[in-house]
Amino acid sequence: MALVLGIESSCDETAAALVDGDRRIVAQRIASQDEEHAPYGGVVPEIAARAHADRLAPLIAAVLEEADVTLDQCDAIAATAGPGLIGGVMVGLVSAKALAMASGKPLLAINHLEGHALSPRLADPALEFPYLLLLVSGGHCQLLLVEGVGEYRRLATTIDDALGEAFDKTAKLLGLGYPGGPAVEKLAREGDPKAVPLPRPLVGSKEPHFSFAGLKSAVLRAVESGEHADADIAAGFQQAAVDCLLDRTRRALDRIDTPPALVVAGGVAANQTVRGALEGLAAEHDMRFVAPPLPLCTDNAAMIAWAGIERLPLGQFDPLDVAARPRWPL
Ligand code: KG4
Ligand code: ZN
Repeated sequence: MALVLGIESSCDETAAALVDGDRRIVAQRIASQDEEHAPYGGVVPEIAARAHADRLAPLIAAVLEEADVTLDQCDAIAATAGPGLIGGVMVGLVSAKALAMASGKPLLAINHLEGHALSPRLADPALEFPYLLLLVSGGHCQLLLVEGVGEYRRLATTIDDALGEAFDKTAKLLGLGYPGGPAVEKLAREGDPKAVPLPRPLVGSKEPHFSFAGLKSAVLRAVESGEHADADIAAGFQQAAVDCLLDRTRRALDRIDTPPALVVAGGVAANQTVRGALEGLAAEHDMRFVAPPLPLCTDNAAMIAWAGIERLPLGQFDPLDVAARPRWPL
C-alpha cells in the first residue's frame, strides 16, 4: 500500500500528514497562525515564514510518531512548492528536500492548487474524472475542468481579487477580525441578504470570469454610509458573491459538455451558503455535487500527500534542486 508524507506551508497553516493509497489519513497535524496574524488583520509574510520554520520539524516528527511510521516506510515525500508566500513555501520545500535526501525517498513538488483540485477525490472514492471544479480560496477563484491528474483546463479566473480575499476584507471592514470568512458567514445568518443593494460584477458577461473588486468597494461604501446593520451588509455581501459564483459557473457549463460532477474546493468551499447554492445548480444540470468535508477545504497537508499518492503511478518525481515558485498557474 502506497504511503506518502505531505507538507504544506504556503500561507498561514503549517501542516504535515501521512496519507495512504486507501484514502486513509493515517495521521495529520495542522498548526494555525491565526493568533500571530490577527493583530494585523491579514497574513504577514515574514511572520508566517518564521512561524513555519519554528513549527514544521516538530510537526512532522509528531505525525510520524503518531502513525508509528518511519520515512523508510514512505514511498515519497510531497511538499507544496508554490504558489504562495515564498518564505513559507521555501521552509516546507527545503524540509522535504532534506528528508528526501536523508531517506533516499523520491521528492514530489506539488502545486498547492493541484492539492485543492484533487482533494475531493481523497474524500470521495466515487469521484472520477472529468469534473468541473470551482476552486475558491484566499488566493484564487477559478473554474477548472479536471480531466485527469495533471490535466487541468482553466475555463475562468478572477480578473482582480480572489473571493476569500473579499470575505477577509469584508470581515476587516466590519471589525470581525481575522480570518474573516467564517466570521462573515456567521454574522450573515442574522442579516437580510436583500437589505443592502450591492453589485454583482461581471454577472451576465460572455466570458465566465470573476471579479470581486467592485463588490469589495461597494461593501466599503455601505459600511462608511453608516446606514446599514452590520449583519445586513454581511448577508448582502455573501449573497452577491454567491450570485456571482452561480452565474459564472452556469456560463462555464454552457461552454463544455456537461461533466458528471460539479465539485467545489478551497477555503471558501467551507461556506454553507456557497455549498447549498452550488448543490442546487448541480441538481439543475443533473450533475453530482461533491464538496470535501470542511477540514479538507481549508489549507491542510492531507491534500498535498493525496496529490502525491495520485502522482506516484506517473513516476514524475522532482529533482532535489527543484525551485519554490511564488507564482505557478495550474
Ligand atoms: O484554501 P485556503 O485555506 O487558503 C488559500 O489557499 O488561500 O482559503 C482561505 C480563505 C480565506 O480567505 C478565508 O476567509 C476563506 O478561505 N474561508 C471562508 C470560510 N472559511 C474559510 N470564506 C467564507 N466562508 C467560510 N466559512
Ligand atoms: Zn489553499
